[in-house]
Amino acid sequence: MDQRKGGAYPDEATRQRAGRHAEGLAGRPWERRAPALRRMFEEISGDYDRLNSRLSLGLDRRWRAGLARALEPLPPGPVLDLASGTGALVSPLVQRLQRPVVRLDLSAALLRRAEERLAPGSPAIVGEMDRLPFRDDSFAAVAQGFALRHSRGCDALFRELHRVVKPGGRVALLDMRLPLGGGIEAVYRLYFRRVLPRLASFLGGDRAAYEMMVASVAALPTEAVLMAALRDAGFVETESRPGILGSVRLLVARRPG
Ligand SMILES: C[S@@+](CC[C@H](N)C(=O)[O-])C[C@H]1O[C@@H](n2cnc3c(N)ncnc32)[C@H](O)[C@@H]1O
Repeated sequence: MDQRKGGAYPDEATRQRAGRHAEGLAGRPWERRAPALRRMFEEISGDYDRLNSRLSLGLDRRWRAGLARALEPLPPGPVLDLASGTGALVSPLVQRLQRPVVRLDLSAALLRRAEERLAPGSPAIVGEMDRLPFRDDSFAAVAQGFALRHSRGCDALFRELHRVVKPGGRVALLDMRLPLGGGIEAVYRLYFRRVLPRLASFLGGDRAAYEMMVASVAALPTEAVLMAALRDAGFVETESRPGILGSVRLLVARRPG
């Protein structure tokens, strides 16, 4: 049994999965990270949406709807759903913004799986969020749910978003955040680090994947660094809106023009 910090793994298979998933963490060369991320998300996607909805007590739906609202008002044009996966953000975007949504993800399998639940009309493109295969000024907005932590680096990512968003367009990126403060945030932090992966496993999820999630969230740059990177990339009206107990954060910004 593995006795690494944070607790023993219940079995050898979980320990091996944890080792494979860890290859997707920041700091590893991208040639190893990309296939590890793709494999992990393809393995867990069957349970991912159901489990996240239960673990967030259904709040994830409200957060996604809030993200779509935060993109208004917009210039004409389509919206890009960056790291779209099984497409959980697509319907909130289409319903609120009433315009086409283009989906991009590292995994072709996940983009195909999304089509089982989406209405036709949201084209899919396999690609990397940090190297977008789009011309300058292609989108009215870029939206992203729960994938900022998988970027190669926020400075380059935000410059790339500024390039593909039209003048006057907006970006909104929602991700988990490691709660920092004292009091109730400290209790939540303990829950997030120690309890969540075990609870996810108890509910039928992949404990190793949730441990990887906690580690990748912990490695995200601080609020101050993210906000400075957005401004340095050329965005204005930058905002970081915290969600419940500091567990999530919505970054919002506008390209001037
Ligand atoms: C946690 S899921 C989020 C899915 C969806 N956006 C949502 O709100 O539920 C993360 C997604 O990011 C994708 N992904 C991870 N790294 C990526 C990258 N560098 N470029 C594009 N997609 C990436 C994964 O394939 C996965 O589908």
